[in-house]
Amino acid sequence: MARKVILDVDPGIDDAMAMCIALLDPALEVLAVTAVGGNCSPEQATRNVQTILEQIDPPYWPRLGAASAPDDGLPVDGRHLYGNDGLGETNFLVAERQHLHPSEKVICDQVRDASEGSVTIVALGPLTNIARAMILDPELPSLVGEIVMMGGAVSGPGNITPTAEFNIYCDPASARAVFHSRSTKTLVPLDVTNRIVLSYDLFNQLPDESTKVGRFLREVLPPAFRGYRRQFGLEGIHVHDTITLMAAAHGELFTTEEMAGDVETSGDLTTGMTVFDRRRVPAWRHNMDVAVDMRADEVIDAIISGIRTAGAKAG
Ligand code: RIB
Ligand code: CA
Repeated sequence: MARKVILDVDPGIDDAMAMCIALLDPALEVLAVTAVGGNCSPEQATRNVQTILEQIDPPYWPRLGAASAPDDGLPVDGRHLYGNDGLGETNFLVAERQHLHPSEKVICDQVRDASEGSVTIVALGPLTNIARAMILDPELPSLVGEIVMMGGAVSGPGNITPTAEFNIYCDPASARAVFHSRSTKTLVPLDVTNRIVLSYDLFNQLPDESTKVGRFLREVLPPAFRGYRRQFGLEGIHVHDTITLMAAAHGELFTTEEMAGDVETSGDLTTGMTVFDRRRVPAWRHNMDVAVDMRADEVIDAIISGIRTAGAKAG
């Protein structure tokens, strides 16, 4: 039985790679892909979700959700890595669908339509949609099976400020609301996702360029490598979102610990910081599992295998 998932994404080239794998993984049934602003504006993120779907054209198209800005607006974007359009300024043509329901409504509808506890939300961007869905349907936290989130940092530094990871920093209030919710949550933080850097050898392992996925990734990956070299002097790319998808689909490759986490929502230096009570006698109640380690070589193998399967399945 394929695992039912909803992908909440702010594409972003690393989101796009995760989408390619998830949409064509026979072990996953992607019920919906819901856009959220982050790496790019909400409008652009919604457009990019449609672009990616049109480019890889999976046999089964999921429901799509339209992004809208967080209440306090987006403080930052990912253009320094992924260009003004979030997809490396590849300027794909897209036949935009006119009327898409808001992402939070699509999330609620899909969770309600499925049997209780059967849906995993894989949150790869700011948590705006998840928090709004919990307001729209207060039963959502107990109806959803699990929320697997890319975000935060436990003991390592942030990546958009010295203390904050990008997804949390974009909408700290929503992240705090989700952290406080009674849903079953797994957080995949930078402490783990920073451990993998894919080198240029990735291009030798992509599906043939005659395939939709092979062609699409050969378009969007070079700008990502350029962004990482320009921004960090790195000869490779991080794939935070694809690793998080692996944590959802191949949890046996990850080690998690129960933790009590919260989010700082104010402070010149610490807004968006994730804080965990790891005192000898913690006062905060555990509210999530946090990935603290992974079998990195096997995760990389699973990523490459997922991309190649996607290439074969999409044709
Ligand atoms: O900090 C990395 C996260 O922020 C990734 O999800 C990336 O796509 C951006 O959303
Ligand atoms: Ca993302």
